[in-house]
Amino acid sequence: MPRIDRRSLLACGLAAAAIWRPLGRARAASFKADPFSLGVASGSPRANSVVIWTRLILEDTSAITSADPFAPAPKRVAEPMDIEWMVAEDETFSKTVQSGLFRAVPEFAHSVHVEVKGLKPGRWYFYRFRSGNATSPVGRTRTAPEGGDAFRFAFASCQQYEQGFYSAYGEMARSDLDLVVHLGDYIYERSYGNELVRQHGTGVPSLLYEFRDRYALYKSDPQLQAAHAAFPWLTIWDDHEVTNNYASDRAPDAPNPAEFLDRRRAAYQAWFEHMPVPPALAAGFDALRIYDHYRFGNLLSVSLLDTRQYRSPQLQGAAGNDQAERTMLGPAQEEWLAETLGMSQAKWNVIAQQTLVSERDTKVGPETGYNLDGWDGYRAARGRLLSAVHSSAASNPIVIGGDLHAFYAADIKRDFADEKTHPIASEFVCGSITSDAPSEASLATALAENPHLKFTSGKHGYAIMRLSERSAEVDFIGIADRKQQNSPAAVFQRFAVVDGAAGVNRL
Ligand SMILES: [Fe+2]
Repeated sequence: MPRIDRRSLLACGLAAAAIWRPLGRARAASFKADPFSLGVASGSPRANSVVIWTRLILEDTSAITSADPFAPAPKRVAEPMDIEWMVAEDETFSKTVQSGLFRAVPEFAHSVHVEVKGLKPGRWYFYRFRSGNATSPVGRTRTAPEGGDAFRFAFASCQQYEQGFYSAYGEMARSDLDLVVHLGDYIYERSYGNELVRQHGTGVPSLLYEFRDRYALYKSDPQLQAAHAAFPWLTIWDDHEVTNNYASDRAPDAPNPAEFLDRRRAAYQAWFEHMPVPPALAAGFDALRIYDHYRFGNLLSVSLLDTRQYRSPQLQGAAGNDQAERTMLGPAQEEWLAETLGMSQAKWNVIAQQTLVSERDTKVGPETGYNLDGWDGYRAARGRLLSAVHSSAASNPIVIGGDLHAFYAADIKRDFADEKTHPIASEFVCGSITSDAPSEASLATALAENPHLKFTSGKHGYAIMRLSERSAEVDFIGIADRKQQNSPAAVFQRFAVVDGAAGVNRL
């Protein structure tokens, strides 16, 4: 039920008509450089609300793109800025539904997070920002539907900036979607691989301003901006938003946990500042609860998980990977997920997390090898996750993930060793947007050694899931060459999951 009636809508419209004139409260700034150079974004869509985002870049940003490690730190602007925001039903803003002022403060890098409430379900909206003489690009967003409308979303992960261009996002922006789900590794903390097409230009971030600059660099990409401006996003992080393979309060490159927690706090704050997530998350960054649940009518429920912040440390060897006390989600999140799945009435229940849940033996022949940073290093925790999925009786569970820099489709089993048992859930992992893929030989081994893994590919791109009453169809989309700008993209494999029958079917 929309919370605003026609009269208040009209009143909002009138107020909005006046708002683009200079306001007493707004700082009449005159910008020499575009302060909206990071674009706009929206996210966290509910039936009646959505978060709209931007960040003002007020400083001299030359240091951000400079490859010179001795470039001087940019001058920071320390004053708060009043930003005008406006939401309309049409692209030309003739039917404005809401508007207001947001005070962007330097403590949060002049980021803007407005939770726009009182919207109608299942509708497209357009939004923009203004400050002084500068106006942002127009963004488009969509509220969650309330009924059983068909629904389409893309999912993506792993976008190392130096290893490729964001052609995949250019293609995504042009497609027909209701939502984008980002599964982590939105930024990378350091350089990896070779044949780099562009440079970070700065070292490994550990301080807040360094993480901010890294996000600003990634978000300066026009194709990434286009994908943000076209659809609302749901975002969760993986490890590279902080540092490689970190686990809770420790990391391989951090001998001192207290120092690491300072770095993690800075990384979590910068993540908040650059993601279209609810403003309420700004309450503190020593811990940041990003796991959450979103409902898209009767058709789809999405549970977003955090497999980094609460996990037990990685093991050095496979011995002990079935210890019951080892956790991936932490007890509170485990309990929350079981409850969330138990209450779900949706036809399709997507569990969006960072990596592959299915077992994956990486060694040829009778010998076994596992990725101990993934769920294979947390077997008892995986067992509890799968028990929660199974015993909740949530209809049609589908796990999605990223992290591996390769596409996977899999049947999730209670006992992966038993080939004869029926799957209890379906799983799809998207390949990376740009980050280096594993070797073809290792992907072939994964398929040969693990019968429940049905497909894999080291292409770069993303996936789209289309949901209806009858089926969930998944397209794997690959770009021809990540090292080229505007490289063409095409669907290279399709799958379907049929209502009531867990398991992936190649089309
Ligand atoms: Fe990655």
